[in-house]
Amino acid sequence: MIEIGADDRTWLLSGPTSSYALRLTDRDELLHLHWGPRIALADAEALAAAPTPPERPFESWLDGREEYPVEGGPRFVRPALSVRGGGVRGTEWRFLRWAEGADGELQLHFTDAVHGLQVTLSYRMRGDVVERYAVLLNASTGATDLEVLRADSATWTLPPRERWRFSQLHGRWAAESRLVRSELTYGERVIGSRRGHTGHQHLPWVELDADGATEEHGEVYSCALAWSGSWRISVHRLPDGAVQITGGSGHDDSGQELLPPGTAIATPVFAGLWSDSGFGGTSRTWHAYQRAHVIPDADEVRPVLYNSWEATGFDISEEQQRALAERAAELGVELFVVDDAWFGARVSDRAGLGDWTPNPDRFPGGLGPLADHVHALGMRFGIWVEPEMVNADSDLYRAHPDWVQHHPGRARTEFRNQLVLNLAREDVRNHLWEQLDALLTGAPVDYVKWDFNRCFTDAGWPGEPYPQRLWDAHVHGFYDLLDRLRAAHPTVAFESCSGGGGRVDLGVLARTDQVWTSDNTDPLDRLAIQHGFSQIHPARVMAAWVTDSPNTQLNGRVSSLRFRFVSAMAGVLGVGGDLTRWSAAERAEARDWVELYKEIRPVVQLGDLYRLRDPDGGPCAVQYVRGDDVVVLAWLPAQAYGQETPPVRLRGLDPAAAYACADTGAVHRGAVLLHHGLRTGLRGDLDAAVFRLRRLADVTDAADAYSGLAQS
Ligand code: GLA
Repeated sequence: MIEIGADDRTWLLSGPTSSYALRLTDRDELLHLHWGPRIALADAEALAAAPTPPERPFESWLDGREEYPVEGGPRFVRPALSVRGGGVRGTEWRFLRWAEGADGELQLHFTDAVHGLQVTLSYRMRGDVVERYAVLLNASTGATDLEVLRADSATWTLPPRERWRFSQLHGRWAAESRLVRSELTYGERVIGSRRGHTGHQHLPWVELDADGATEEHGEVYSCALAWSGSWRISVHRLPDGAVQITGGSGHDDSGQELLPPGTAIATPVFAGLWSDSGFGGTSRTWHAYQRAHVIPDADEVRPVLYNSWEATGFDISEEQQRALAERAAELGVELFVVDDAWFGARVSDRAGLGDWTPNPDRFPGGLGPLADHVHALGMRFGIWVEPEMVNADSDLYRAHPDWVQHHPGRARTEFRNQLVLNLAREDVRNHLWEQLDALLTGAPVDYVKWDFNRCFTDAGWPGEPYPQRLWDAHVHGFYDLLDRLRAAHPTVAFESCSGGGGRVDLGVLARTDQVWTSDNTDPLDRLAIQHGFSQIHPARVMAAWVTDSPNTQLNGRVSSLRFRFVSAMAGVLGVGGDLTRWSAAERAEARDWVELYKEIRPVVQLGDLYRLRDPDGGPCAVQYVRGDDVVVLAWLPAQAYGQETPPVRLRGLDPAAAYACADTGAVHRGAVLLHHGLRTGLRGDLDAAVFRLRRLADVTDAADAYSGLAQS
């Protein structure tokens, strides 16, 4: 809902618990007024009437107050917009008008007479999440192209507070989304990706809490970009202590666009959220927002999948995949995915990428017979692809060496023996569309794992007058291809993967059904990765596999099936071990875990998440609540001699209600679980447990059972 002040220059947008307000001065400066708890229009008008700060010789009266600081004029902050045309740089706009778009979107239109540039700033409330983006239109009647050197999606302004703490999700391959918090001091903190994809190094998300928030209390601001290419977010603490966050697509001078007359570009959405319910409340609102407005079909639970990558690597055959499928079906798996190496000459990572037809030695009848077998076993059938890449040793590259990103005369850098196709090119996109559409039409494929296994390094586009636009245009090409495939094959689900979690963001989540969280499937390492991931994204998209023990990847850790399953049950459960080597007893145990997961799945995937204890080396636990159902997953990495595992205090329960635990048979009083906690009985090393609780209609059923489990 948009409310407008009596001056026609003050706007107020409100969600269920929060409001956002801004105003235009009589000099057409667009100033921020409020982002925080819900207020009335009269409050916004009072803020608009507050006296302007006194002018000081060395400081700008605009810095720290503007909604979208452009380059030029009395500003010293990082500009959100930098435009050059006809030898003139910078922007000086006049207000044109405002309009209400679909879904109560506030659109503010400005024009720069010198450039003939129209700038539209958009604001849309989705619950308490504010979605912001900008549209630039070259409306000049002349022939001058404009160069957009930088167009951020939005600048966010935080209120004055004593202290600010900055949280980020940093990482690397196999160790993504690790949460760190640090004091925000003066100057700029800049995070981003110069890699052409979102990157393992940072999720495009920042969080700032005021004056020491905790998991369930305190004021928290967070912002997330809906973009899967290079990006940059700058958090700036200005000399007077004010804090602004500016972000958008493109790093440094990448993401530049040429804007010929009559053309327009839209930035990706930069979404912002204020919450006074601490980090946990912030996460729950982000999760609800994504399930309601971002993720396709998010009210449907995701199936349990099997993927053979860790078990078989590149050494695959139809017979072996059939055998694995039979074992997977016995466990209760619902979706069987053939990973890499089913196509072209792909018997190692040296060849075949780009040739998306089944390898005739490995799949003599194509993928159809295996797909039919998988379907006959009662499972859905999925495949792995990496469409944006090509091996030099491939038919595609031999036919079209000019289709890869490259600079003429310079080396073509290979990572994992592969080069990046230039999806900004229409002929490349059309070729991929034909290949992938034929693949999905030719075999009954229900699921596509879409991988992206290297960064951009030689982002050149010979023959293109403005090759810089490749950085953004490749990502739009990727989005267009995915959107087109989804529209043509509406029953096919897609997973975003990039060597694990290298392409996880709100942009890709709008067009995929789940993401591969990390190539690291170690169940203990995963707890920290999943903890970070859960700060912004819901369990509904967080794929997690149970693999072999000892872990075949890097660390060789030995852990029980129990620990591995309970770790992976915190997201979308999958199995990725070599099932031909699991004993009958292990397979029987795994079947029970899969069955249990299916029972708790609606609560885990669609419920509200409470992080009860963080994975900082000691016992940790998460809780999900959906209606009357409650699930607690608890883990103990290691127990010190003589040290009892403390009970975990639950959250989000009705203190006046009683809760029956299906796993222990105990009936607990809500108030006791909230205040004194649930005894988990975990002991030893790498122990884990699942507790299913259901609210009872009648509290008198509760005998009181603080104990639940005997003390260890
Ligand atoms: C990436 C993915 C893995 C697997 C391999 C196949 O590394 O993250 O899960 O699909 O590619 O080459």
